[in-house]
Amino acid sequence: MANDATGATALHPETLLVHAGTLRSQYGETSEALFLTQGHVYDSAEQAEGRFLNTDPGFQYGRLSNPTVAMLEQRMAAFEGAEACRATATGMAAVTAAVMAPVRAGDHVVAARALFGSCRYVIEDHLPRYGVESTLVDGTDLAAWRAAIKPNTKLFFLESPANPTLEVIDIAAVAAIAKEAGVILVVDNVFATPLYQRPLALGADLV
Ligand SMILES: Cc1ncc(COP(=O)(O)O)c(C=O)c1O
Repeated sequence: MANDATGATALHPETLLVHAGTLRSQYGETSEALFLTQGHVYDSAEQAEGRFLNTDPGFQYGRLSNPTVAMLEQRMAAFEGAEACRATATGMAAVTAAVMAPVRAGDHVVAARALFGSCRYVIEDHLPRYGVESTLVDGTDLAAWRAAIKPNTKLFFLESPANPTLEVIDIAAVAAIAKEAGVILVVDNVFATPLYQRPLALGADLV
């Protein structure tokens, strides 16, 4: 089987879940070490400068990166088939960042109506407070996604299967509509998990 950019797709999902992204310390531990540190030491002032300028790939400060979290991120990226992954403390932090980071005041977001309550709150209540308008559509109706697109539409958001209705949306079809319109498709993959569904392989941009 061909490798992807991470060289990881040759491994079975069960193996990826246990081994992808493993970063062993000098002690050769078998499971992931918990790095309970905010900071790191550097060999030189130049190296420290490089870490903070992002020209040296090592770790620098816990809020930005941490070896334990990096293992989780690399494992999730390999499992979702993603180029990169950012871990957050909760699912809603991830949804809020994924939906809000790509938009700015004046943009428009289209989302499926069947959403987990807190996700719907972000789309319906949170975004408009920052000057981003939103439209909710029947996610199973492809014509509705197409009809909702405006010149300022920047992002599509959906859950499939949705919580709690289990509504299933044709992710590949919505992704094709998004691609054609130059819109970013964000998929909340909570219910299926990448074990059963890989939205990025179906054309989504962010999961
Ligand atoms: C579809 C969906 N998205 C996001 C979340 C939020 O996750 P968290 O409770 O970790 O913030 C949930 C939680 O149940 C969910 O079902």
